[in-house]
Amino acid sequence: MVRTSLRIGSRLAVLLAVGTTACATEGAGRPAADGEDGARLAADFDVVKVYKSPTCGCCANWVEHMRAAGFNVEVEDTDQLANVKVEAGVPPQLQSCHTALIGDYVFEGHVPAEAIARFLAEKPDLDGLAVPGMPVGSPGMEMGGRVDPFDVVAWNGVETSVYESHR
Ligand code: CU
Ligand code: CU
Repeated sequence: MVRTSLRIGSRLAVLLAVGTTACATEGAGRPAADGEDGARLAADFDVVKVYKSPTCGCCANWVEHMRAAGFNVEVEDTDQLANVKVEAGVPPQLQSCHTALIGDYVFEGHVPAEAIARFLAEKPDLDGLAVPGMPVGSPGMEMGGRVDPFDVVAWNGVETSVYESHR
């Protein structure tokens, strides 16, 4: 479990470093090949529209996680989250705190930016990804060094499948 977490953590760090490099080198000569890939990846994605409660701290942390990874995030605070989730078609058992829309896809809860980037690149015939509940140690839910195992679940209508297992 620990080894898997470290691996995911370091891969995410690479993703974050790529995003930072792309920003830092803007207008300052040719970025490295990795930086170009990172910048193009982020630029190709549609705006991330996040619906969250105005008082949700972990939601704000997740938004920062997405921005750090290079996503263009728009936040809409709302007290109508239950309606947002119904309209977005999030299965009840997959619900979490915030709901994010990217193009026609829905991302529910503390889904890692890396998983979203892979999903968007693959363009699967699915509705979206969710991390049900709010597992400690998922992006935006850091509490010291504690990392609880969690699954990133894909869904399509009422059908669900594990997209990534973080354990
Ligand atoms: Cu949360
Ligand atoms: Cu949230």
